[in-house]
Amino acid sequence: MSPHLFSGSTLDAYTSAVWHASALLADRVKAVRQPYSGASVADLRDQVDAVDLDRPLGDTGAALHEVARLYLDNAVWFHEPTYVAHLNCPVAIPALSAEVLIAAVNSSVDTWDQSTAGTLIEQRLIDWTAGRIGFGPGADGVFTSGGTQSNLQALLLAREETRGGKIFATAESHFSVGKSAGILGLARDAVVGVATDGDGRMDPVALAAAIEEAGGVPMAVVATAGTTDLGRIDPIDAIADVCERHNVWLHVDAAYGCGLLASRRRRHLLDGIERADSVTVDFHKSFFQPVSSSAIVVRRGETLRRIAVHADYLNPRTATVPNQVDKSLQTTRRLDALKLWMTLRTLGSDRIGEMFDAVVDRAHEAYLHLLDDPDFEALTAPTLSTLLFRFRPAGLSVTDCDELMPRLRQRLFHGGRAIVAGTKIGGHYWLKFTLLNPNTTMDDLRDVLDLIREIGRDMTGPATKDPVANAAVLA
Ligand SMILES: Cc1ncc(COP(=O)(O)O)c(C=O)c1O
Repeated sequence: MSPHLFSGSTLDAYTSAVWHASALLADRVKAVRQPYSGASVADLRDQVDAVDLDRPLGDTGAALHEVARLYLDNAVWFHEPTYVAHLNCPVAIPALSAEVLIAAVNSSVDTWDQSTAGTLIEQRLIDWTAGRIGFGPGADGVFTSGGTQSNLQALLLAREETRGGKIFATAESHFSVGKSAGILGLARDAVVGVATDGDGRMDPVALAAAIEEAGGVPMAVVATAGTTDLGRIDPIDAIADVCERHNVWLHVDAAYGCGLLASRRRRHLLDGIERADSVTVDFHKSFFQPVSSSAIVVRRGETLRRIAVHADYLNPRTATVPNQVDKSLQTTRRLDALKLWMTLRTLGSDRIGEMFDAVVDRAHEAYLHLLDDPDFEALTAPTLSTLLFRFRPAGLSVTDCDELMPRLRQRLFHGGRAIVAGTKIGGHYWLKFTLLNPNTTMDDLRDVLDLIREIGRDMTGPATKDPVANAAVLA
């Protein structure tokens, strides 16, 4: 009997290891005051490379302490209110208790005989999500590793269903759309760019024209409900009309906007989503779930089965039990669904929706605040919880601002006190708040803006400590 493997006879070692890990984590998190230590790549690489993986420490406690130094002390903490960079959320505590169970039981939801009730739990959550989308009883779906995989699978199904070769999407759609086209072996010009209405939302008239102009059999239209940068929601109902007229598969990428499915105040923003053929939802973005937790949900369940491959040893055609592997791109797969299950059973979906609404409210408040601050420019009013802005005090040209912003962002990151994202829109560089932490207050955001102002002034002022930036800005 190995003392190192989880079993009924190693429960003391197991509970001690898990208790130590959570106690160590709590100890470290208690001391966290900012999202990042500020350590450089070189520093961290030296420390990680110095570990001799062929000389084990022989003790979980010792290994945990080493990991605390290497990893926890330099982790990026998404729960810190001044972490406002990417689509990462602080995680719901009930989901963390589910993680303990998922890891130790280690079910694999590919076949019934490796997961039993786990398969039914996942299926109930798919049905629940399909219900929230507004799909009828024929809907089906499966959990995936993330929005990228969900989008890939949706486009694979669209190709199987239509045998078409062109995907219609805007420049604001997620880059996984283009990546999927490559993985699917489609032609280089397979993704046809559809014009937007000037506000980053797909223009349905331009979509119809693009489909007609492309000719041939179209494969799919990808509408986005919550674009990564601007948080825009394409006009799904009008797009669904065009898709119906041209008999095109409609995929809605709601990786980010899916939190609206739980919102009592803003669910209407997703109106029309029930007309999609497939939908991507990322619970690990706007349902406060730990990574990974995503799903693809389809209106007609039978379309999912088109990719089924049967292996005699695993899921023979004659099987009479539910084998999720028939619907998934993966084989061995975690029971990630249990995290969402625990969250819904403990908190309920209204609470999730309220938390998502709170971050959307905060983005609107922050936008109004920026309008009143002469040192900053906001690009446009937010739809969801992203906000694009830049530090541009009087006298700083747009060209100099474009050059300064990425370097300012880097310096902010290495200071560790706040982390924001950055992106380019129309060739110009903007800083980005992505708000997914309902604990981030306006005071926190004011602090982040003050920090940016301080660094910006330092980099542009005559007595700058950053001669390279100064030379570029003043040139
Ligand atoms: C709109 C959209 N779709 C898909 C994705 C990909 O999701 P994931 O990172 O879970 O693969 C993202 C990620 O930011 C996204 O914003």
